[in-house]
Amino acid sequence: MADKITLKVFATPDLMSEAAGEFIVRIAAESIAARGKFTIALSGGNTPGKLFSLLASASFRERIDWKKIFVFWGDERCVPMDSERNNAHMAKTLLLDKIKIPTANIYPIPVNLGPAEAAKKYEETLNFFFGEELPSFDLILLGLGDNGHTASLFPYTSVLIETHHWIREVHVEEQKEWRITMTVPLINQAAHIAFLVSGIEKAKVLQTILNGPYDPDQYPAQLIKPAEGHLFWFADQAAATDLKTCE
Ligand code: 6PG
Repeated sequence: MADKITLKVFATPDLMSEAAGEFIVRIAAESIAARGKFTIALSGGNTPGKLFSLLASASFRERIDWKKIFVFWGDERCVPMDSERNNAHMAKTLLLDKIKIPTANIYPIPVNLGPAEAAKKYEETLNFFFGEELPSFDLILLGLGDNGHTASLFPYTSVLIETHHWIREVHVEEQKEWRITMTVPLINQAAHIAFLVSGIEKAKVLQTILNGPYDPDQYPAQLIKPAEGHLFWFADQAAATDLKTCE
């Protein structure tokens, strides 16, 4: 198992984002060469913003065959689709509206519906897209909250033990907000999973997730263990401050 986990630490958030961009270019080219398409689930929050802007820049956007890229989200806040807090809105603003990707290739989570209906509808979308195949993304990007959550898999929520659905609605008490999230079984079916973690405020939780006791109810990111895929951690030096280096 250990050989399927890769930790890469970079001096700055910019260098981390650049490395993540190169990683996506590589994985996208390999997926398209092998299967004619690349399926990616984007993460939300602030961390991926630099990456999205980079992918839209002249040095990256021409290196990806966007018409063969299919974009989904790992989670979404139940806020209006045009809200600054909406993850798909952020990705569209920074990336998707700036590249030649067919609108039909972009699958935002339909939070204009109620939470349960949005989750059901998105799961139907995944089942239709993947057809008979098991929904297995080529790449799922994830962030890490300072409380150990990832996607919208928050501590001590019932969604952590969901095994029958790929997508579920979850009420996040601490944020007084409904969210829609990919579940652990779906995320762990991905061929590649990449966490992006940046900032000193993530140092303690990153050390706990990677080297602390296994306590997934409190630290849901510990549930992310690809069944057959490869897990990557991209961190900047600030977030890696507390990691014990192997002497
Ligand atoms: C969300 C995210 C969430 C995020 C982490 C880290 O919708 O909020 O999907 O899981 O990735 O909370 O967020 P930051 O990158 O803003 O620290």
